[in-house]
Amino acid sequence: MKSPVEKLREARDLSDGELRELIESGAYDDELRKSADEVRREHYGDKVYLRGLIEFTNYCKNNCYYCGIRAANTGADRYRLSKEQILDCCKEGYALGYRTFVLQGGEDPYYTDDRICDIVRTIRADYPDCAITLSIGEKPRESYQRYFDAGANRYLLRHETANPEHYAKLHPGSMSSENRKRCLWDLKEIGYQVGSGFMVGSPYQTTDDLIADLRFLQELQPDMIGIGPYITHRSTPFADMPSGSAELTLRMLSILRLMFPYALLPATTALGTITPTGRELGLQAGGNVVMPNLSPTTVRKKYDLYENKICTGEESAQCRNCLEMRVKSAGYQVVTDRGDVKRS
Ligand code: 5AD
Ligand code: FES
Repeated sequence: MKSPVEKLREARDLSDGELRELIESGAYDDELRKSADEVRREHYGDKVYLRGLIEFTNYCKNNCYYCGIRAANTGADRYRLSKEQILDCCKEGYALGYRTFVLQGGEDPYYTDDRICDIVRTIRADYPDCAITLSIGEKPRESYQRYFDAGANRYLLRHETANPEHYAKLHPGSMSSENRKRCLWDLKEIGYQVGSGFMVGSPYQTTDDLIADLRFLQELQPDMIGIGPYITHRSTPFADMPSGSAELTLRMLSILRLMFPYALLPATTALGTITPTGRELGLQAGGNVVMPNLSPTTVRKKYDLYENKICTGEESAQCRNCLEMRVKSAGYQVVTDRGDVKRS
């Protein structure tokens, strides 16, 4: 009889019951990891793509219960980068070999569509060979269209959890799973390469929720899927909730690799935060992307979605070298490439 791992690899799917077994039992972990690594090598060889992350504002109008930069956290030290500072980050990143810039921020009304379009247009003109990724939350479809027309190619918006009832336990009533999903479909229709994803071990999450996440991703077929462990932040309503585990995150990463062989799967900073070699383990579990920080060191600590975030003291060049070493030690190679998705 075939093991569930073999079945998943061949069919890229399993029944809910089989997925449940895989998610809840550690018994298949070795086989799962080995199989996921083989599949990533079939599709992407030993390449690891870099995305230069520019966290340009930690102002946010939302109040997600898990997030350290939620509006109600009056203890957060807020900052915004100017257009010039953002362009300086791109310049430094380009010199370090990055060919994708990810502009990420809270939902900050200061950055109107006009301001975002102006920044995107300038980066597009200065770096025609680079991909521009936005990660600035939920917007009306018209805004997404405007950013796209200005030159943005990709958009990251995690669905966080696909089950609307679970979503409602993580977010205030002003936010909905339905609107989140609407945004993702709009982004896809407009022509963005879309990244979605979820937290592993978020408060109240059940195995059924994780299965719902996989089912939603099967519908959406995103280009990138970002997952990381939920990590507790003391100044949130979830201060007393335990963090998620590296073990389950790695298991979910491998499952994602087998279900979505073509996907770009980052070994996330949250995974590197929960355990010191988390990113290396993430690559070995099927990941093929890392997202080093390009923000000025003066603001890094302030983008604290969760506690003890790594890479807040290092210069961009230090992170670049550190990651190159880590990627090599895990058995892979950093490439200087836009790293577009390879669907086949
Ligand atoms: N722990 C882990 N991940 C978090 N995020 C936000 N807050 C936390 C936290 N406390 C993730 C969300 C968001 C992404 C930018 O960071 O999934 O989409
Ligand atoms: Fe930033 Fe290692 S990647 S210090």
